[in-house]
Amino acid sequence: MAGSETAGLQVPVAFKDADDGTIPVRPPTEYAAAVASLPLNPASKLKLRCYQGVWVLEDWVPGIMAMQRSFSTRPGDVVLASFPKCGTTWLKALIFATMARTAYPPTSPAHPLRRLNPHDCVILLDRLFAIGREAVLDKLPSPRLMCTHMPLSVLPASISRGSDCKIVYICRDQKDMVVSMWHFANRARPDISLQEVFETVCDGTCFAGPVWDHILGYWRVSNAEPNRVLFLTYEQMRQDPVDKVRKLAQFLGRPFSDTEEEAGAVAEIVELCSLEHLKNLEANKKGSQGVFLKFPYDSYFRKGVVGDWVNHLTLEMAKCLDAIFEENFKGSGFTLP
Ligand code: A3P
Repeated sequence: MAGSETAGLQVPVAFKDADDGTIPVRPPTEYAAAVASLPLNPASKLKLRCYQGVWVLEDWVPGIMAMQRSFSTRPGDVVLASFPKCGTTWLKALIFATMARTAYPPTSPAHPLRRLNPHDCVILLDRLFAIGREAVLDKLPSPRLMCTHMPLSVLPASISRGSDCKIVYICRDQKDMVVSMWHFANRARPDISLQEVFETVCDGTCFAGPVWDHILGYWRVSNAEPNRVLFLTYEQMRQDPVDKVRKLAQFLGRPFSDTEEEAGAVAEIVELCSLEHLKNLEANKKGSQGVFLKFPYDSYFRKGVVGDWVNHLTLEMAKCLDAIFEENFKGSGFTLP
């Protein structure tokens, strides 16, 4: 369980393996009054409050406040940041597999990703703080792999501006994201319609939104500090996963050696983390995660098709989404690759 060291490189430990369960669920209570004073989104069934310009689940706001106040990074930390439904699960698996490859070769039957859902390997800080279990992070050996759906603007300064940790960001075409979000939300809340998801994304009031601010925040820092923030898109990853995993490894300071390249290690990692492979593992077929809202593990794996929006959105909806995003990206220099 302890962080192991292979060939001089420290290997990450899956969050669930570092968590002995002794730290209880104890959501922070000291922020109740502050949370109650925040604007509530009357249009959303999810009870979202606007905190520092970001729409956050009411139950998660105290955790975000606690995270801002108490979280500090350690050298070697890696934070995966994403807008929900943009490829978080995939990237969690790829980062874990890439960082852990000396101790766990991708073809190893004992690989943690064959017995644990990627969300149990790389923990979502937003939820961990919301349930008051952040002390488990102290038990997690370095390098710690963590995740957030929050925009850079609300993250603790040690993540957003510090030099101790690297950030890998992923976003996705807004139309596919909307469709994916609707399918996902439906598993926990079947009463949420595609129209509702579409509208909250368009008006910027969806969870973690506005989406354009989320994307631009990370994109700007990735331009200014490319060694600290790596900016990826789901589409680029789908197009050439091998190339992107190489780039990821390089960014994380663990480039593939010639020997590894010759042995096909990159392709093996891509195969281990492929949608088809992960989706069919027992660990990902049953079970769920979440305390306030339960999400079955299998709900994180659907089709993974770029352009699947054509099967669900009307042309009018698609044009509307594109126009809103284009307008909000205007002048920034950013276009979704
Ligand atoms: P679709 O709903 O379009 O199929 P997130 O992990 O951020 O919640 O994003 C979920 C999206 O990523 C879903 O997209 C899901 O199918 C896709 N996905 C999950 N695991 C994947 C993997 N290993 N490879 C590629 N796509 C994956």
